[in-house]
Amino acid sequence: MSYPLSEEEKNKRLIWAVTRSVLETDNYKHKRHGQKSKSNWNLFTKVLGIFVFFMKLFGLYQAGLANVFKIRIQKHRLSFPNLPAQFDGFRILHLSDLHIDSVAGLEDTIIERIKEVDFDLCVLTGDYRQSSAGVFTHILKPIKKIAHHIQAEFGPLAVLGNHDTYLMANFENESGIRLLINETVELKRGDDKLIVSGADDPFSYYTDASLLAFTPEKAFKIALVHTSELADIAADNEYDLYLCGHTHGGQICLPGGKALISHQTEGNKYISGFWNLGQMRGYTSAGCGVSGVALRYNCLPEITLFELSKN
Ligand SMILES: [Fe+2]
Repeated sequence: MSYPLSEEEKNKRLIWAVTRSVLETDNYKHKRHGQKSKSNWNLFTKVLGIFVFFMKLFGLYQAGLANVFKIRIQKHRLSFPNLPAQFDGFRILHLSDLHIDSVAGLEDTIIERIKEVDFDLCVLTGDYRQSSAGVFTHILKPIKKIAHHIQAEFGPLAVLGNHDTYLMANFENESGIRLLINETVELKRGDDKLIVSGADDPFSYYTDASLLAFTPEKAFKIALVHTSELADIAADNEYDLYLCGHTHGGQICLPGGKALISHQTEGNKYISGFWNLGQMRGYTSAGCGVSGVALRYNCLPEITLFELSKN
């Protein structure tokens, strides 16, 4: 199933693209509650370099690199009494934070995992490349390769992350991955439907247009957002499930799983796994890929398979 754009959506996208292109060129994170200076990535990179030096010194580097390829399939069954009957047993495969150019061959590991499971819909919650600026055309081939292996009843749906550029929107026709840029689509089985809404990244590129993603319509509703930052808006609009990523689960964690850095300030409960907000269930994926440094400790990458049921 594909999701053609209406004329209204095409026009809204033009305005969005112009706005996003401007936001991508300045030196601020555009947050919902005001501007913030961008992180000092150069300093962060230097700190990571020192970290890598010590990992090599203590003989832990290879183990951290090996962990990057240990992508787990995390299976979860979620019960929703209000789930439409035709969608009882509906399976959603959730990929997040591919950062597909962060290590060579990552796309093949992801494809191996995807082949192991059956699903009805695949959703992707942003961050397709390693860098947050500059060229991106080199990721088109591996992303397209992954998209080729996403075979399901409904076509894949995706949102952009803070590492992504508005220019990637041009790629959706070729890849078959439908972006939801502050948009909503309906998935239908007979007379029943699910609503899936996706907002543009709120970590660096929030605008009030993001609010247009969320519909007040009464239905079973799923929100896709790169971060948890719009969870309260989704909950206020009575969404049932909110899927996001961004944190990588910490990526580098202490034994026991405590994240050293999560790149989010919304609270520890949003760093990884399940959380609730009002009646809404939320899930933050630890992601498939890595950023900053190609290492993971005490936090393996994941692909998540949700099975929705009525009871
Ligand atoms: Fe990421």
